Amino acid sequence: MILSNIIAGQDIHARYGGVVPELASRAHMQNILPVVDQALLSAGVSLSEINAIAFTQAPGLIGSLLVGAEFAKSLAFAQNIPLIAVHHMQAHVLANLISGKDNPADAQAYPFLCLTVSGGHTQIVVCSSPSRMQVIGETTDDAAGEAFDKSAKILGLPYPGGPLIDLYAASGNPDRFKFPEPQIPGLNFSFSGLKTAILYFIQNEKAKDPAFIEKNLVDICASIQSRIVSILINKLKKAAIQTGIKMICLAGGVAANKGLRKAFEETGLALGWKTHIPKMEYCTDNAAMIAITGYYKYLDESFSPLSSTVSARAAW
Ligand code: KG4
Ligand code: ZN
Repeated sequence: MILSNIIAGQDIHARYGGVVPELASRAHMQNILPVVDQALLSAGVSLSEINAIAFTQAPGLIGSLLVGAEFAKSLAFAQNIPLIAVHHMQAHVLANLISGKDNPADAQAYPFLCLTVSGGHTQIVVCSSPSRMQVIGETTDDAAGEAFDKSAKILGLPYPGGPLIDLYAASGNPDRFKFPEPQIPGLNFSFSGLKTAILYFIQNEKAKDPAFIEKNLVDICASIQSRIVSILINKLKKAAIQTGIKMICLAGGVAANKGLRKAFEETGLALGWKTHIPKMEYCTDNAAMIAITGYYKYLDESFSPLSSTVSARAAW
C-alpha cells in the first residue's frame, strides 16, 4: 500500500524552455530532505520503522541521480537497512501494479505488454514478472513526450508543451492537416521526421500568412496529437498481435494525454484487450513507482551494496 507519494516540482525549467541539468541537481539537493521529511510525516511512520530504502539508479540526469543515490546510501548506512537500486523504466512499468482495482497484479495477468511514453523514453515492454521485462520496441530518436514538446515549441507554446497541445486539441479537428506516419520496420518508433515535417509545414504556412498559427491553433494541435497517437497505437497493436498478449498497460507522463487514453481504450475494446492505466500521479515521474519496484526487489532480497553507482544511460 502506498502511504505517501511526495513530488517536488521544478518550475524553474519552464523559464529556459527545457530541463537544465545543473539547475535540476541543485533543486534536488534543496528538496531531498524536506521531501523525505514530508513523506514520513504524511505516511505517519518514523524513520526507525523503515525496512529498506530504494533509489533510482538509471537512467536519468546524472547530477540528479547522484543526489538521490548518495542520500539513499547514507540513510541505509545510518539506519542499517538494505539499499535497493531501481531502474527508472522498470519502475514506470510496475506503476501498473500499484494497488487499485483491476490492475495486472490482481488479475495475475502475466505476461502483460506496457507502452511507456515519457519525455525521455518510448518503449514497448513485455513484463513476465516484476523482475522479468524485455524491451521489444523503442524509439530510435525522439521520445513521444519530446515530439509533443518540440512541436509545441515550433508553435511558440511554453515548455512543457505536451499538456497544452492536449488542451487545444480537444476543440480542434484532427483531420484538418495530415502529417506523415514514419515507416519504421518492426516495433521501433521514430518521431524526428514528424517534427521536421511540422517545422517545414509551419514555416511554409507562416510565409503565406504570418497569423497562420493563431488562426488555426486548435486544428494544428489536434492534427499533431492525432498523428503522434496513431504512431503509438499502431505499433502497440502490432506488438499485441506479434506476442499474442491481450493484457495491455500504459505508463509514463504522456499517458496523461486525453487523445492517447481515448484511442487506447477504444482500440482495447475493439480488439478484446484487457487494459490498464495507472492513476495519473503514478504515470508522471513519482516516488511510488520506485517504491513498488523496491518492494518486489525486497521480496526477492535483491539488495545493492553501498558502493553502488548511478548511470545516465543503462541497458536493461
Ligand atoms: O514521465 P514524465 O513525467 O517525465 C519523464 O520524461 O520521465 O513525462 C513528461 C512528458 C513531457 O514531455 C510532457 O510534455 C508529457 O510527458 N506530457 C504530455 C501530457 N502531460 C504530460 N504530453 C501530452 N499530453 C499530455 N496531457
Ligand atoms: Zn520517467
